[in-house]
Amino acid sequence: MPGDPSVNFNLLHRICKLVVLLCFLHIFVTVVFYVRSFDFRVAFAQNQQSKHNAVKPAQVRNAEVRNTEDTPGVDPVIEKPKAPEEPKAPEEPAKKLEKCPETSPLLVGPLRVEFNIPMSLDLIKKENPNLQQGGRFKPKDCEALQKVAIIIPFRNRDEHLKYWLYYLHPILQRQQLDYGVYVINQDGEETFNRAKLLNVGYTEALKEYDYNCFIFSDVDLIPMDDRNTYKCFSQPRHLSVSMDKFGFRLPYNQYFGGVSSLSKEQYLKINGFPNNYWGWGGEDDDIYNRVTSRGMSISRPSGEIGKCRMIRHNRDQKNEPNPQRFNRIAHTRETMHKDGINSLSYRVVSVEKLDLFTKITVDVGKP
Ligand code: BGC
Repeated sequence: MPGDPSVNFNLLHRICKLVVLLCFLHIFVTVVFYVRSFDFRVAFAQNQQSKHNAVKPAQVRNAEVRNTEDTPGVDPVIEKPKAPEEPKAPEEPAKKLEKCPETSPLLVGPLRVEFNIPMSLDLIKKENPNLQQGGRFKPKDCEALQKVAIIIPFRNRDEHLKYWLYYLHPILQRQQLDYGVYVINQDGEETFNRAKLLNVGYTEALKEYDYNCFIFSDVDLIPMDDRNTYKCFSQPRHLSVSMDKFGFRLPYNQYFGGVSSLSKEQYLKINGFPNNYWGWGGEDDDIYNRVTSRGMSISRPSGEIGKCRMIRHNRDQKNEPNPQRFNRIAHTRETMHKDGINSLSYRVVSVEKLDLFTKITVDVGKP
């Protein structure tokens, strides 16, 4: 009945109930939407993260595909998507070394050299832990100024070689050289040919590394001062200038025997060394003639720094003085363009990469 207060109250009560219900409905709908949008945000964030991780591998994959496309006859590989990788710690870039100084700060000067101490390859190995197989070394704190191959002509002189390795390895390391030691062993019992073995050493060492300097050393000569650096100079160098055998002086001004150094360029300028000096003597005089006839001169350290000691020994078998040497030396200028590195022939018998040196055994033929 109109105007009846209980009817109005009932209506009001119903309206209130409806409003409360609507409120609950609104809250429910809001909660549902909120929860669903939360799930969506988490999924989005995860997706973004995996995309970020995948950037690098994708670039690499592109490069790989490009490479295969560049290779004729190889079908491009279509990569399957990979699982996202764990991010890796960035790698340290390789340190660019500074050049070593002109004069090594590690040099000590005069050295005591004796040949009566017991010697073994094990001891030498122990004392030179930084050597690489084949008798190779390069300084680890600076970039060496020269790549030096040391060539030793050899046959049946193992005892002398041990002393050479014992004294020279530490000296060469103090001199901060990037070097390798090549012992060129003449196979068989034919007459010895020192200069031809040196040519073989030059050729074989270059097959292994880009050497730009060559030291040619007898196996029985040891420097007595580490300031006598086994490297190359602007002119071919004679290093064994004052040998105990000759009373610590040059036997004659043109003497170029024992230990010498030539850069690759200098060596090629003289067509290498002669191949036809069989037996003892003369080949070093021929090399001297080659050097001077090509307009170069001999550089030498001072008599004090150039002191060296020779291991005493009896004359080797099959290395008798060569009677033809005088005649040959007199004709170096005429013969040097056809006898040398351009006419070298030999056969490698074996190459052994040992701990302290590389031993190359060769058949150099016979006279
Ligand atoms: C020989 C050289 C040798 C020199 C010193 C000369 O007569 O021809 O080969 O190095 O003597 O012994």
